[in-house]
Amino acid sequence: LETGCLSIIVLGASGDLAKKKTFPALFNLYRQGFLQESEVHIFGYARTKISDDELRNRIRGYLVNDKTASLEHSESLSKFLQLIKYVSGSYDTDEGFQLLDKEISKHEVSKNSVEGSSRRLFYFALPPSVYPSVSRMIKKCCMNKSDLGGWTRIVVEKPFGKDLESAEHLSSQIGELFDEAQIYRIDHYLGKELVQNLLVLRFANRFFLPLWNRDNIDNVQIVFREDFGTEGRGGYFDEYGIIRDIIQNHLLQVLCLVAMEKPVSLKPEHIRDEKVKVLQSVLPIKDEEVVLGQYEGYRDDPTVPDNSNTPTFATVILRIHNERWEGVPFILKAGKALGSRKAEIRVQFKDVPGDIFKCKKQGRNEFVIRLQPSEAMYMKLTVKQPGLEMRTAQSELDLSYRQRYQGVTIPEAYERLILDTIRGDQQHFVRRDELKAAWEIFTPLLHRIDNGKMKPNSYQPGSRGPAEADELLSKAGYVQTHGY
Ligand code: BG6
Repeated sequence: LETGCLSIIVLGASGDLAKKKTFPALFNLYRQGFLQESEVHIFGYARTKISDDELRNRIRGYLVNDKTASLEHSESLSKFLQLIKYVSGSYDTDEGFQLLDKEISKHEVSKNSVEGSSRRLFYFALPPSVYPSVSRMIKKCCMNKSDLGGWTRIVVEKPFGKDLESAEHLSSQIGELFDEAQIYRIDHYLGKELVQNLLVLRFANRFFLPLWNRDNIDNVQIVFREDFGTEGRGGYFDEYGIIRDIIQNHLLQVLCLVAMEKPVSLKPEHIRDEKVKVLQSVLPIKDEEVVLGQYEGYRDDPTVPDNSNTPTFATVILRIHNERWEGVPFILKAGKALGSRKAEIRVQFKDVPGDIFKCKKQGRNEFVIRLQPSEAMYMKLTVKQPGLEMRTAQSELDLSYRQRYQGVTIPEAYERLILDTIRGDQQHFVRRDELKAAWEIFTPLLHRIDNGKMKPNSYQPGSRGPAEADELLSKAGYVQTHGY
C-alpha cells in the first residue's frame, strides 16, 4: 500500500448502506491492519445534525457480530470508533463541503502529511439523485490540493441510472468532473470470493479449456434467490424492480466472467476489454424468453402502489452471438421472497453421444459454483454404483470451502473492494463503457415493462417463483438433475 495520510469520507453516513456495509467493511480492514491509525481518518457526512458520538453509537451495533464479539475486538472497536468524525451539511451547497474540506485538511496537517501526498476517498452511500451535485461539490471544495502526489477518488454504488439514457446522462455529468481512473463503480458481486475465482478456474485449469464452449455446454444458469421480500425497501425497489436491482448488474457481471475470452493479461483494462466484448455480443432479448413474477403480498407494503407492475422475480435468457457461444442459452434468474437464499452458477453439459449405459435419465454432467451461502463448487458426474451390478448413478466431486479451508475467513465483498480502491486497482469495478453496454441490453425490455406491455405472473412467497419460469427453463434445454 502507498503511505501517506488517508481520509475516507462516507457520504450518507447515517443511511442504511453506510451502517450495514461501508462502516463494517472499514472496521474489518482496520482490524486486519490495512488501515493504520497513524495515517487514516474516517469522516461521516450527512444532512442530519448529530455529534461524533451520536454517529459512533448509531453504527456501533452493526460492527459487532460473531466474528468481532471477542474482548480483543471490543478494544479495537473503541479505537476504530475514535477514528471517526462527523460533519453535517447539505448535498448541494458549498458550506458543508467547505467545512468538510477544513476538517480533512486539519487531519492531514495533524498527521504531518507531506504536502500533496494525502489521499482522499469519497464513498457515496447516497441516493443517486444527489450524485451530480455531490460530485460538483467535491470537485469545487474538497479535492486533494496539490499535484505533487496523492489522489482523490470517488466510489459510487448502483443504481447508476434507470435506463441507457439516464445512465449515460449521469456518467457524462460525473465524467466532466472526474477522470475514469478516479471513478470506482462498485458492483459488490465482483468482490465475492467465488466470483473472483472465476478467471482462475477458467484459465488456470486444463480441464476446462477445451470444454468451455458451444460444442460441449448445453446451457448456463446464473441464479439469485432470496428468501425475503422487499422489507422496508419497497419504495426504492418499486421504482427499480428485480432486473435493475440484481440482473442488469450482479448477474450480468457474473455472466461476463463466465463467458469472456482469455484476457491478454490480468491488467484491469485487459480484463474489462474482454467483458465489454461479451456484452456487446449479446443479442436483443426476445419477449418469449422472459418470465416475470411478483410475489403475492408485495403490494401490501404501504410504500408500494396498489397497481404496481414491478417484477420481484425474472427469468431472462441472453444469447451471445459469437463463435464460442452461438446457440447456448444463458439463463439469468433472480427473485425475492422465494423458498431459499442462494446464488449459484450452473454450467450444464450436453449429453454423451452414443451413450451405452442408458444413463441419460439420471441427468447430465453439471458444474455448479455456489457463490453463497457456504461457498462451494461441485461437479455432477455419472459413476458406477458401488456393488456387484453394473449400475450407474449420479455423484459429485465436491469442493466445499468450509471443509477444505477450515479456519480461513473469507473476506466480505465490500471489504475487498474498498481495499482495491485504496490500492488503485480497478479490475473489480465497472468501467463506463461496460455500464453502457449493460444498459443497452436491458433498456428495451425495461421500457416494455415500465409501459405495462409485459405483466408479472403472481407467485406464492416461499415458492420457486412462477411455474412459467420452470417451463421456460426446460424449453431452453435445462434438464433437472438428481442428487444435490
Ligand atoms: C443488492 C440489492 O445490490 O444486493 C439487494 O439491492 C439484494 O436487493 C442484495 O438484497 C443482495 O446481496 P447479497 O450479497 O446478499 O447477495
